[in-house]
Amino acid sequence: MMRSITYLTHLLLSDYLKSDAIAVDMTLGNGYDTLFLASRVKHVFAYDIQEIAINNSKKLLSENKINNVTFINDTNENIDMLNQKYSIAMFNLGYLPGANKNITTNSNATINAIKKVLRNPFLEVVSIVVYEGHPQGLKESEEIQNFIKNISGNFNVKILKNINTKRISPYLVLIERRKTHEKNSINIS
Ligand SMILES: C[S@@+](CC[C@H](N)C(=O)[O-])C[C@H]1O[C@@H](n2cnc3c(N)ncnc32)[C@H](O)[C@@H]1O
Repeated sequence: MMRSITYLTHLLLSDYLKSDAIAVDMTLGNGYDTLFLASRVKHVFAYDIQEIAINNSKKLLSENKINNVTFINDTNENIDMLNQKYSIAMFNLGYLPGANKNITTNSNATINAIKKVLRNPFLEVVSIVVYEGHPQGLKESEEIQNFIKNISGNFNVKILKNINTKRISPYLVLIERRKTHEKNSINIS
């Protein structure tokens, strides 16, 4: 059976989703990732620059009787202003399905936000679903790949990608904080 990248992302994050954890959805969109997170952790803070995304997601979450989400109608680059001990951060890049395709994530803002998330000492894992299927997305993908190669040895960085299809499909970048015993067993530059 073929598993979607969203399904696999949720599966890989599951180990980190504890009932007392705080998570951040850095790109709320239509709220599906937030719904997934909020039904497993204590609280979710969810960012989106578009009001339509906030409204669509509020509807989805209320239909699912979820009320442990704080919606933040702002750029995720302001994550450093969020005074919360979050341990999970999710990014799902690109444009809002069904809305204006010109409003999309961009590499400068995304990389800036990832850097800030990685500076949070409570952070355990970051997932980033990357779409290369539109020009802005391809640029964002190339710049993210350059950036993640140089992330400090305090983190493990992996990519999960379909490699035998002609169609351009999204891929996952998973950044996990190394445990102390892992740090001792490798050479960290
Ligand atoms: C592909 S959608 C996210 C899909 C979503 N996670 C879901 O489950 O439906 C990407 C979203 O990122 C938002 N976005 C773009 N740039 C942003 C930024 N700098 N900060 C926060 N959200 C941003 C867009 O408005 C769009 O809604």
